[in-house]
Amino acid sequence: MNVRMKTFPLLKPALLSVSAGLAFAVLLGATSEAFAQTTAEQTAAQRAAYQPVFRLDGGNMTYAFGVNERGELQQIYWGGKLGAGDAIPTPKAAMELASFDNSYNNTPQEYAGWGQGLYMEPALKVTFADGNRDLVLHYVSSNKPDENSLNIVLKDISRAITVTLHYTMDPDSGILARAATIENAEPKAVVVEQAAAAAYSLPPAHYTLNYLSGRWAGEWTLNRETIKQGQRVLESRRGSTGHQNNPWFAIGKGDAGEENGEVWYGALAWSGSWRITVEQDALDKVRVTGGFNPFDFGYTLKPGERLETPIFYSGYTHHGYGGASRSLHRFIRGHVLPQAPNPKTRPVIYNSWEATEMNVTEPGQEALAEKAAALGIDRFIMDDGWFGQRKTDHAGLGDWYVNKEKFPNGLKPLIDKVKSLGMDFGLWVEPEMVNPDSDLYRKHPDWVLNFPGRPRTEQRTQLVLNLARPDVRAYVFGFLDKLLSENQISFLKWDYNRNWSEPGWDQLPGDQQKRVYVEFTRNLYSILAELRAKHPGVEIESCSGGGGRVDLGILRYTDEVWPSDNTDPLDRLTQQDGFSRAYPVQVMMAWVTDSPHWLNNRATSVTYRMLVSMQGSLGIGANLNNWNAEEMATAKRLIAAYHKVQKTVQQGDLYRLISPTDGSEFSATESVSADKSQAAFFAFVHSTQEGRSFPRLQLMGLDPAATYALTSIEGKAAPDTPAEATGAWWMNHGIDLMLRGDFQGAAFSLDKK
Ligand code: GLA
Repeated sequence: MNVRMKTFPLLKPALLSVSAGLAFAVLLGATSEAFAQTTAEQTAAQRAAYQPVFRLDGGNMTYAFGVNERGELQQIYWGGKLGAGDAIPTPKAAMELASFDNSYNNTPQEYAGWGQGLYMEPALKVTFADGNRDLVLHYVSSNKPDENSLNIVLKDISRAITVTLHYTMDPDSGILARAATIENAEPKAVVVEQAAAAAYSLPPAHYTLNYLSGRWAGEWTLNRETIKQGQRVLESRRGSTGHQNNPWFAIGKGDAGEENGEVWYGALAWSGSWRITVEQDALDKVRVTGGFNPFDFGYTLKPGERLETPIFYSGYTHHGYGGASRSLHRFIRGHVLPQAPNPKTRPVIYNSWEATEMNVTEPGQEALAEKAAALGIDRFIMDDGWFGQRKTDHAGLGDWYVNKEKFPNGLKPLIDKVKSLGMDFGLWVEPEMVNPDSDLYRKHPDWVLNFPGRPRTEQRTQLVLNLARPDVRAYVFGFLDKLLSENQISFLKWDYNRNWSEPGWDQLPGDQQKRVYVEFTRNLYSILAELRAKHPGVEIESCSGGGGRVDLGILRYTDEVWPSDNTDPLDRLTQQDGFSRAYPVQVMMAWVTDSPHWLNNRATSVTYRMLVSMQGSLGIGANLNNWNAEEMATAKRLIAAYHKVQKTVQQGDLYRLISPTDGSEFSATESVSADKSQAAFFAFVHSTQEGRSFPRLQLMGLDPAATYALTSIEGKAAPDTPAEATGAWWMNHGIDLMLRGDFQGAAFSLDKK
């Protein structure tokens, strides 16, 4: 089967027909090859004739760049939308500040080759066969593949290395997708040592960088710091996205806040090692460069070969951090997710992991399925432990046959049972991994990432299969295809429980082996694409020991993600806040698990846990065998209530009314449906102190003229709260809640009359 991976165009083809505000101040169709080749000999007048300027408009954003007097592509503007008739000035290279800071370095290069005295982060660095490492890219030509897209061709001033920069503007959100294709037309191979998707520049100002950091069970910490001279590096060297940094950033200007002020933001669509650098130059300009992580990178391009970078998306808003995340959420739902532009709401799921861990059996799972069905669950998912000789995490990964001791008649009886209870069935897999204690490893020890003759470092007693190898790719696709063909499976939880070590690929000659950094992830994407094409009804979750593989690359192929193995509800409040900076609630799975929580030993009520998870895509991950009748009844009632606001919560506009970051004892979120007919809001108090009231909540995003009726999902509003009032009332006057105590929550919906 010939399955095309999603590469270019950068938006889904169906959406490219949307009429756009993509305008080009000048769009040269003709190739000005001579410009790139003979810049040094040209007169100033001749050069001016070859200095096109490009302008892209979408949403409330304008992005402009052009060719400076030296022939370099230079960013001119990135910010709020300019007047349609405003002339974009031809760019002029920046001055030389001193002999230590030359003009090439100080100029806001759109895609800088490493050469000519560049000390800022290069977009591209190569080594030629003769040892030359100087690369200076000049403008050659442009073309417009469709209404919303633009390609710019750059070429080195003397060598046959070309770079095609791809731009696609989403006319609605103004989110710009940028990527680059690097091509070697030299007679000999070149090694690409660094390749960014894009660089973005901002003029001097006081900026605050927002980024996400974390670790296993501690993902999604929002960090805020002033951008100062020097470089802040956000990265993963781990072979996959990582828990430690997430490939997203937001830069606020001055005192930009949650709902006001200018914010520039971006996200990199790559699930392998990645890097985003944010740096301020000697003239106080800021440059953000993102793409493949150059650490240990070395992609050999033989004559005629190309390297495509991932996509680095960017956007702008003057509605603060909330506005930035709402735009990104809409864009991800509308353009990135596999079911875009209209992804189905996430079903309410049950997952067996925390209940049974690997001790799964047919009767045990069936008993849990009965309890789950009684709560009104839509999808039952059996987690780790059903395959090979899997009793602990020491064995079995790689052997994807059903364990006959646990499931003597295969998966069919359990799946039939689950379906007879009115749920669909999902299954956990970890396709890229192998335990040394497995038939697969005994047969194919050469299939793992390794350097021959060197130790193979185990993590969770497992090794990473080298998915870049064609035989490994075929094996992984083959077993998954068989599993999905032979069983009525509606959902895969695709896990990935360690990072790389010893990343060798000894099938290839020494100078080719670092291709693994690209081909592994490409093969992952292509397997997912091929599986989806062949089994269109199957949905997939990206999990990596929690949130270790969440990015806009994997989200082109997976419907949802597991944000964290940490399901403690108090921790989840801050994690969900951090997660929502970049990713929509639509993909944010949120389970209710047991209390006291295994990680923090914190006891909380079922109600509190449910309400926290109802802010996301709700699931239950508790051992329902231990729940009493009252807990079951509460969960059942709240699942039914969730179904009434499910689409609004998952696909509405999210307002973080009170952020739980910075140790706030309160938090609140609100979601408003796209047509403003419904809002759902949730409020939480950690521990009331000194009898303080819950802050009055002024809602947002409603239709001021419409009348909305208030319904309590859980908890009480102040006695004088009207049963119905206009959007203007709820937004301007606001609502007082009767919310006090420790780990208390409340939730309400507002429905348009
Ligand atoms: C990872 C996942 C968990 C669970 C286990 C199974 O840690 O994040 O949810 O699936 O693996 O081994």
